[in-house]
Amino acid sequence: MLGKLNSLALLAASLSVVSAQYYQRLGTCPKLGCVLPPDQQDFLPGQYFDLRLEVHAPVNGSEAFNSGVPDEKFTVTIAKEGGEAKSVAEFFSLDEPEIEKWTFHWYEDLYAEDAKTPTFVNVASKIYRRIALYEPGNYQVKLTYYNGETTTADWVVRPLATAKKAKNVILFIGDGMTTNMITAARLLGHKSINGKYQSVLQLDDFPVVGHQMTHSVDSFITDSANSASALYSGHKSTVNAMGVYADSSPDLFDDPKVETIVELLKRVWGSAWGAVSTALLADATPIALTAHTRSRYAYGPLIDQALNSLTNYTWTNHGGPDVYFGGGADQFLPGSGSYQGEDYYKAFADADYDISLNKTSLTALSNSSKALGVFCKSNMPVWLDRNVFTNNLNSFTNDPSGVKGPAKDLPGLKDMTIKAIDILNERGGDKGFFLMSEAASIDKQMHALDYDRALGDLLELDDTVRATVNHLKAIGELESTLILVTSDHGHGFDVFGGVDTKYLAEQKTDREKRRAVGVYQNSGLSQYTVEKPGISYGTGPNFPVNWDPRYAIAAGLGANPDHRENYRVNNATSRNPASTLAGLSSNDYYVNPKDNPDGFVVNGTLPTSESQGVHSLTDVAVFAMGPCQETFGGVYSNIDVFYKMANCLGLARPDANEGGKGCAK
Ligand SMILES: *[C@@H]1O[C@H](CO)[C@@H](O)[C@H](O)[C@H]1NC(C)=O
Ligand SMILES: *[C@@H]1O[C@H](CO)[C@@H](O)[C@H](O)[C@H]1NC(C)=O
Ligand SMILES: *[C@@H]1O[C@H](CO)[C@@H](O)[C@H](O)[C@H]1NC(C)=O
Ligand SMILES: *[C@@H]1O[C@H](CO)[C@@H](O)[C@H](O)[C@H]1NC(C)=O
Ligand SMILES: *[C@@H]1O[C@H](CO)[C@@H](O)[C@H](O)[C@H]1NC(C)=O
Ligand SMILES: *[C@@H]1O[C@H](CO)[C@@H](O)[C@H](O)[C@H]1NC(C)=O
Repeated sequence: MLGKLNSLALLAASLSVVSAQYYQRLGTCPKLGCVLPPDQQDFLPGQYFDLRLEVHAPVNGSEAFNSGVPDEKFTVTIAKEGGEAKSVAEFFSLDEPEIEKWTFHWYEDLYAEDAKTPTFVNVASKIYRRIALYEPGNYQVKLTYYNGETTTADWVVRPLATAKKAKNVILFIGDGMTTNMITAARLLGHKSINGKYQSVLQLDDFPVVGHQMTHSVDSFITDSANSASALYSGHKSTVNAMGVYADSSPDLFDDPKVETIVELLKRVWGSAWGAVSTALLADATPIALTAHTRSRYAYGPLIDQALNSLTNYTWTNHGGPDVYFGGGADQFLPGSGSYQGEDYYKAFADADYDISLNKTSLTALSNSSKALGVFCKSNMPVWLDRNVFTNNLNSFTNDPSGVKGPAKDLPGLKDMTIKAIDILNERGGDKGFFLMSEAASIDKQMHALDYDRALGDLLELDDTVRATVNHLKAIGELESTLILVTSDHGHGFDVFGGVDTKYLAEQKTDREKRRAVGVYQNSGLSQYTVEKPGISYGTGPNFPVNWDPRYAIAAGLGANPDHRENYRVNNATSRNPASTLAGLSSNDYYVNPKDNPDGFVVNGTLPTSESQGVHSLTDVAVFAMGPCQETFGGVYSNIDVFYKMANCLGLARPDANEGGKGCAK
């Protein structure tokens, strides 16, 4: 038996390399015993979380063990550094939970997938729900299984402040926004003479800039779900998951949860909170404030969690957002997109929300009531279509009331954000507020390689931040508000030259067309700030006066499907760079024949099953202004954004008896 265990240890050690690559058995669990939250995680004193233990018994495949029978007699202890190890049940004064069992399967590599030979794994598990560590310090959790095998998790409960330094926090997220995109947007929106900008972005005036690293807990490229979750909870997660550490069970809603900033703020201070987004409200970045799930695509249930807090498990009640503005009518209209087919406009109205479905009624909303504003189905049309190519709006079938037709009278990010501030400021009163405002389509349009639409929304974000600073000043809240502008991840976008789009379009071959790209001195100067005689885009200062100059920027992404470039603004609809071809696989993308027919072909760098560009590894910037701004300089992890905000908001509760309101222990 001992020999078998030793060989298991060796096997597990050699396999941990394999199982942490392309496919993973469970990313946070290289051994056969799993502790979630895993090793190296950090906590806010008093923050609620669940602790799950799993013991895996692979039935077959390279790790096959114990005939696929998982150890159900595993034990788990926790010790504070310098203290004695106690069983988890004793340490937290809980009853031992029941053993749960399930089976899952995974592919060990691409060869196994090609051969359709998944590895099956039987699991025995326990979960301790809604616990908290109060005293700052180092802790070790030790899972013992299979007669002496151990998995340990070292955790740190950070020593953080209990007193507030900022009354309010406004967190702007430019989804997918990188420094390269900010640089490009500045070039489009601001005039320069002899290399000197005559005006700059609002972001350029922020006193402090830092960088955050965006890795997921188990992959180095992140998506918007787990990166938003890291920003809001101080806990890393897995692609598509948020507010939880992903476990291996099939249930999308039973994974071990972590408490988010709005749940904490409500419990500790009773503050007001809200979310504004140009995406559907159920989309990852807005919904991660309240969502606890393995799957970001469970849109309907997640809107229910946003209104009613978690009903499936005992948890913190976040009270529902005071303000919730964005797109995504599909999850509110009764039908297949809403939770259990219910009418969520009615559910919000029954919970005393004023409901707004257009800009006119948004502007007229009372500052004292809770408000839900849903302005279209799906994502909101982008700034470029709302302000420049406005005829395109008629091509949408996105009326939020469910009537077939386009949403008219759409607010922009600025309208939504300023109204949200007025409501939150009145409702929060002395208790302050937290607002997350997301420019979602920077990311969505970068995915589509539609650089102009992405940069238009970035300039809209900057314009919104500028208006926010001015508005906070006007209502006397600038000094008491920490304003952060950051991102959740990047895309490998940059500008590498200028291009003569006229010459490009008129050349016959791809190679001749590429001659139109001017590099170094031939990049010239930005023509987006030079008015075109007879054409007025009329979008005011800080935006381009010409969106379709003959000499455009030559730009691109490091990650793209096959596509065709002509570098001109797509004035008709948002770009669709790659498509499937008639008669061929529905999962195999080629150059979309309708996209830029006068351009040249750029072969993709991605699997041909990807129809769009994908996220990249780059660190992203964090701009800070207001109380605690100085703590945001330097380079740190995305979870540190949460700890810095929590520290500034005095959210730590190092004493179990001062757990805050609304949630009896
Ligand atoms: C494991 O067993 C299942 C069920 O018998 C089978 O379908 C699968 O191909 C096996 N996988 C491997 C890696 O042998
Ligand atoms: C609660 O859990 C059940 C079963 O996992 C799931 O079907 C349902 O959608 C969940 N509801 C919410 C609001 O999360
Ligand atoms: C805006 O919504 C209000 C009700 O909330 C409605 O009375 C009005 O007709 C709507 N306006 C437009 C332009 O759709
Ligand atoms: C809401 O508050 C703002 C700023 O204080 C004020 O200008 C506006 O008139 C208020 N709106 C309503 C409907 O009371
Ligand atoms: C869009 O671009 C095409 C091709 O250059 C042009 O013919 C058309 O007038 C443009 N439409 C608008 C609305 O700008
Ligand atoms: C793109 O790749 C295809 C093969 O997939 C090749 O035939 C073609 O020449 C390539 N085009 C360019 C512009 O590299």
